[in-house]
Amino acid sequence: MRTRFHTRRTLLCAALSTASLLLTPASFAAEPIVIKFSHVVADDTPKGKGANRFKELAQKYTNGAVKVEVYPNSSLYKDKEEIEALQLGAVQILAPSVSKFGPLGVKEYEVFDLPYLFGSYGDLLKVTQGPVGQKLLAKLTPKGVQGLAYWDNGFKALSANTPIKKPDDLKGKKMRIQSSKVLEEQFREVKAIPQVMSFSEVYNALMTGVVDGTENTISNYYTQKVHEVQKHMTLTDHSYIGYAVITNKKFWDGLPPNIREQLEKAMKEATDYTNRIAQEENDKALEAIRASGKTQIYKPTDAEKLAFKRAMLPVHKKMESRVGADTLQLIYKEINFDPDKL
Ligand code: LMR
Repeated sequence: MRTRFHTRRTLLCAALSTASLLLTPASFAAEPIVIKFSHVVADDTPKGKGANRFKELAQKYTNGAVKVEVYPNSSLYKDKEEIEALQLGAVQILAPSVSKFGPLGVKEYEVFDLPYLFGSYGDLLKVTQGPVGQKLLAKLTPKGVQGLAYWDNGFKALSANTPIKKPDDLKGKKMRIQSSKVLEEQFREVKAIPQVMSFSEVYNALMTGVVDGTENTISNYYTQKVHEVQKHMTLTDHSYIGYAVITNKKFWDGLPPNIREQLEKAMKEATDYTNRIAQEENDKALEAIRASGKTQIYKPTDAEKLAFKRAMLPVHKKMESRVGADTLQLIYKEINFDPDKL
């Protein structure tokens, strides 16, 4: 009995020491560092393509020392959960829209939601690459979040099952929005009823009539098939959706410096790529929606656009203290925007 016990113990010790031999530091190093990159849109969008480009480049530049797993379409986390998951370290990279940082306590990002502030991708580039963009990224640090880049999507359209040609056409309509107080105010300003909802729920909510309409970029409309459940879409270009690519700060800081350097290089190239294709992706999506014949696309006249601008512009003043008066004034100056001029 004693002998058998001893034999078993010896075997156990041998197995353990073999295992510890196998698990040398060298073999730990051979295990790739896994980066989970979670997002809520389809692969075939500016962000989806950007994430896949980052994966490809990151793996190439680190010779496989890093493995990037991309989880599109809210397959890992939805809007509400993803930032919390990043802070907890359950996921390493996200690219939430800049309209979704309020719940994290960084409400200044909602400045990007102000209606009719940005007239072009060029305006946005000036802001994201300038002092405001950098100041906003720095505000994430105390939350354990490190900002890596800004990625474009594009300008938004409005949609519903009835035509939207003037601000009054939105009156009384329940409109799905992202979790931003500025967007809430924008719809209140035109007497609509804003309803915050996760992106993954939008299609069903529109189909079942939980909400009447929404706003989004054209590539998001098309890839989520939202155009199939909305009869009318108006190309108001009233504001913008873009992203802050973020990582868990502790994770990023803990990476071996040479690996981090290669990942930064991959991120820089993926950013240039995403920002280069953003407009083209939205243009292609518009043609695809048009070809589907499922929704009526309306391009407002300059006078109609002006009426939307006039109706929504008071949001700037009302939300100034939320987004930060300094930040707003800096942006006005950077892009030469006069809030008193229609
Ligand atoms: C939305 O919720 O409508 C967008 O933020 C989705 C996205 O990531 O583009």
